[in-house]
Amino acid sequence: MTTTLLSDIGLLVTNDQSLGTGPTGELTDAALLVTDGRVAWVGAAVDAAAAIAELGLGPLSSVARLSAGGACVIPGFVDSHSHLVFGGDRAAEFEARMAGRRYEAGGIRSTVAATRAATDDELRARLAGFLAELRAQGTTTVEIKSGYGLSVESEERLVRLAAEATDEVTFLGAHVVPAEYAGRSDEYVDLVVGPMLAACAPNAKWVDVFCETGAFTVEQSRRVLSAGIAAGLLPRVHASQLGPGDGVRLAIELGAASVDHCTYLSDEDVAALAGSSTVATLLPGVEFSTRQPYPSGRRLLDAGVTVAIACDTNPGSSFTSSMPFCIAVAVRDMGLTPAEALWAATAGGAAALRRTDVGRLSVGARADVVQLRAPSYVHLAYRPGVPLVERVWKDGVLVA
Ligand code: NIG
Ligand code: FE
Repeated sequence: MTTTLLSDIGLLVTNDQSLGTGPTGELTDAALLVTDGRVAWVGAAVDAAAAIAELGLGPLSSVARLSAGGACVIPGFVDSHSHLVFGGDRAAEFEARMAGRRYEAGGIRSTVAATRAATDDELRARLAGFLAELRAQGTTTVEIKSGYGLSVESEERLVRLAAEATDEVTFLGAHVVPAEYAGRSDEYVDLVVGPMLAACAPNAKWVDVFCETGAFTVEQSRRVLSAGIAAGLLPRVHASQLGPGDGVRLAIELGAASVDHCTYLSDEDVAALAGSSTVATLLPGVEFSTRQPYPSGRRLLDAGVTVAIACDTNPGSSFTSSMPFCIAVAVRDMGLTPAEALWAATAGGAAALRRTDVGRLSVGARADVVQLRAPSYVHLAYRPGVPLVERVWKDGVLVA
């Protein structure tokens, strides 16, 4: 049994209101005890020695000790929405957009061609690079979607490669209708709910659909999600990214863990979300990169909706892997306070993945811990673009 004491924490965010002040459960001059990858104790630094004795972990001298040097310590980020398995990039499309061109869902097809052309090892190496990027920026849990294969063989490959990297794998065969099915979208949905789902379900936990004009209708989305549920997968939805629609209501009706984007929400959508267990996941990098209007996170929070923030790392609409960047934008442009944004990027992401073992630092949680190079998490928004992640532990092991 390995026990480590992380002490000299100037400000500790636990996300457990019974442990500290405010909705983020904050403690000052705190310490954190980790045993076998889990949080064993959290409290005031002065009480650490007594806690170690009480837990029967031996004298303080037998415990490995680390100092946070007075810095702020937070739970590792839970990035509940990413598309990390793909080939190529779309820098030229981004450049054209910055010169005034509109973002369109159809750009996904060019990444499909590049992804199909890549070997397993090329995709694996790219994925490993992204995972290192994420870790260095404080992300300790990530969801990864398929969706750039769009054939049975190619989608099976993407969920298999994603499953090598995370337990949170999402089958997104219904990302867009591939070129070879142009004008035959219902036939493509037949393929998705039939052989493609059967090939992908063994390596996936979630089923997702892009319910949007230019992608799939509400009826087609319902077919995809219902078939996924029948195959034992859990639903989540991309909706209201490019315009208003009924995707949010469909997500709630089917008990989706999360509906993501939420850029164009009606008052009815907001009220329905508030009365549901579906998390609204905001993706600040998308509005940043597509120049679409930022949705108001304030409106959602004031209505009582549970909000998560995720990066949506993908080559088209949001090619950032930085949760600190997304927090900064959510604070600057979506009306969240720094504390609300931090909660959304940790506990909110955990809720969007229906996880209780991550996104918080209370007894029994995974010791997924980030030490900032700053006295407070407010600096994540106050100092945008500055690398403020000092050290990262995943299950109690130093990974960055
Ligand atoms: O989450 N909305 C659909 N899928 C991605 C975009 C993918 C792309 O443009 O390649 C998203 O924004
Ligand atoms: Fe996405």
